[in-house]
Amino acid sequence: MSLRPYIVGNWKMNGTRAMLSEARAIDRAAQRYMKVEVAVAPPFTLIHAVHREAEQIAVGAQDCHADPDGAHTGDISATMAADAGAKFVILGHSERRQDHGESNELVRSKAEAALEAGLKVILCCGEPEEKRDEGKAEEFVLTQLKLSLPDAMEDVVERLTIAYEPIWAIGTGRTPTLDDIAAMHGAIRAFLVERFGEEDGGQIRILYGGSVKPENAREILGVANVGGALVGGASLTADSFMNIALAAG
Ligand code: G3H
Repeated sequence: MSLRPYIVGNWKMNGTRAMLSEARAIDRAAQRYMKVEVAVAPPFTLIHAVHREAEQIAVGAQDCHADPDGAHTGDISATMAADAGAKFVILGHSERRQDHGESNELVRSKAEAALEAGLKVILCCGEPEEKRDEGKAEEFVLTQLKLSLPDAMEDVVERLTIAYEPIWAIGTGRTPTLDDIAAMHGAIRAFLVERFGEEDGGQIRILYGGSVKPENAREILGVANVGGALVGGASLTADSFMNIALAAG
């Protein structure tokens, strides 16, 4: 089994109901690009509305709480996200880690809760610039993964996606060299094979994220072990997002 390239739009804290027209346009275009799996993660407030519009694309959440319910003002559980129509959740994004102090251990608890609620997980990792400058990017990323992944996972190929996003490349217009992307994705692949075995670990998709645009998508998506892209800014219009999806097909 070889999974299709996976192109995921993370809308972050962008989008009101006016964005539903973009979601419709993405969904229509995705029906023509069947070689590529396309998904969007809108803010919580739009999950249900996008889910109702979507025939082809999957809708996901950008975070969830580690508990299924309870006294957590302002939080949303994985069960609630699933009830609204989410099929997956992005966890451990560097903006959550930085802005909300999320630790690897908390990310792991959230991943366990998400899987329990029937959601797939896109688990993010990525180094700050100083770790890359020190030559410690790989060590940093693999430690994040070791500590953030749940101990026991079933159907791991279907239910787990890794997203490698160097923090210094997010929203900056800067990207690592293709050799650096290949080296990091190769290291993550080796880690997954060691953790889940040759067959499963060899198939889990590893997305690249950080300033992916229509102009650079084809070369990045052509790198070994890059199974798709997690796209921020360029996912906010159907036109640029689907040009990235087209480059993956
Ligand atoms: O989740 C998406 C990433 O943080 C990448 O964002 O494409 O705006 O650089 P960006």
